[in-house]
Amino acid sequence: MSQTVELIYEGKSYTYPIKEGTENEKAIDISKLRDETGLITMDVGYKNTGSTYSSITFLDGEQGILRYRGYDIEELAEKATFLEVSYLLIFGDLPTQSQLSHFEEQIKAHSLPPEGIVKMLDHIPSEAHPMGVVAALVSALTAFYPKSWDLSVNKDEIMPTIYRLIGMMPVLAAMCYKNSMKAPKIMPNPKYDYCSNFLNMMFSTPGILYTPYPVVAQALDKLLILHADHEQNCSTSTVRTVGSSQAGLYSCISAGISALWGKSHGGANQEVIEMLEQIKADGGNVAKYVEMAKDKNNSFRLMGFGHRVYKNFDPRAKIIKKAADEVLGKLGISDPTLEIAKKLEEIALKDEYFISRKLFPNVDFYSGIIYRALGIPVEMFTLMFAIGRLPGWIAQWKEMIEQKQAIVRPRQIYIGPKQRAFVPLAERK
Ligand code: ACO
Repeated sequence: MSQTVELIYEGKSYTYPIKEGTENEKAIDISKLRDETGLITMDVGYKNTGSTYSSITFLDGEQGILRYRGYDIEELAEKATFLEVSYLLIFGDLPTQSQLSHFEEQIKAHSLPPEGIVKMLDHIPSEAHPMGVVAALVSALTAFYPKSWDLSVNKDEIMPTIYRLIGMMPVLAAMCYKNSMKAPKIMPNPKYDYCSNFLNMMFSTPGILYTPYPVVAQALDKLLILHADHEQNCSTSTVRTVGSSQAGLYSCISAGISALWGKSHGGANQEVIEMLEQIKADGGNVAKYVEMAKDKNNSFRLMGFGHRVYKNFDPRAKIIKKAADEVLGKLGISDPTLEIAKKLEEIALKDEYFISRKLFPNVDFYSGIIYRALGIPVEMFTLMFAIGRLPGWIAQWKEMIEQKQAIVRPRQIYIGPKQRAFVPLAERK
């Protein structure tokens, strides 16, 4: 029997249907609310607001479940590759061998950025933050592929645009790194897999070939899988919002990169390492920083802790913590910040402040320690997250376009001045 909720307002009764997802999540469908009652709902930060129906990612924050297209994140991280997962997210099912080979070949074939983009990068200051640089370059790709500007008309351009984005992102990221060091750029090499190619472009120099170490490439691949989608988070909602106006895909992804940059979102992975280094420099006094995070007169927060939707544990953090131990062990690296992070987690998880607010380590808490062990510089951490999140953004954009979603346009409650008479400049006091 279909369920409904009844709203009584000014003595009148209104009925609204309950919509249910495949995992029994329920929502009140209030799409007729304003027409029928004149009311809107208020939910600042959208803590209780569903913005879409989606069949891409399922997440249960209470039980710590994360699935892409029905597959558990733990299993995907263990058994799949990042490009396999990208295919899964974008097309809905795991690829066959020939589908995957075609996908990988197309990505390789579309990975060389236009010369004009490389020249643009040459004019960007070397100290620029790579997130801002890559957001700008991705947006600028529209200029070089003008048909991609309106993909609702130029449908043949959809797949080349997707291939270019997945192919070029790591190339642009590595070029950005080389630019930051004023070093010559290394072009993509089709003989490598996705992650080894990125590592080669990052760490080879002309004449000195870096041989991507399989342990490093595999660890990177796993991190990208763990970041690949996370349903309607801030950056993904941004991609869908921008896309809902029919803006081109490059612009949508550029907007997603910008949204991810903030320290409340993807920018936290850089902040975590900086925080751990600060604690280390301060003699490793972990308890002091836990107290600072609890002090409401202090703006300090434990970076990498807390999450809007995970109120039990973040399954990605569990996998990454284990991976951090494994990767550092295999590479023979001893990183004191890993010990500080573990101590911080241990103290915080026993503390009433964190327990009562359901604050746990999130995906960013341990990821930076692995990135650093792989040789990725700290300023690049959030960009690594963006490379990982890219297939998720693309899948969500594609789903939104296929759903023919209406333009996103929330309402507000106005709390400014009522109408007042204009005072000419000369009469103003
Ligand atoms: N350290 C200390 N206190 C915290 C923390 C933290 N990291 N996170 C939340 N709290 C406290 C808040 O002060 C608040 O306390 P109060 O109820 O006494 O006022 C309570 O917990 C709820 O916090 P909100 O900020 O209301 O929760 P929200 O869901 O809006 O924010 C967020 C989630 C932004 C992730 C927050 O926990 C945070 O700032 N964490 C640190 C930054 C971080 O790690 N971001 C990455 C998130 S994961 C990702 O985006 C990939």
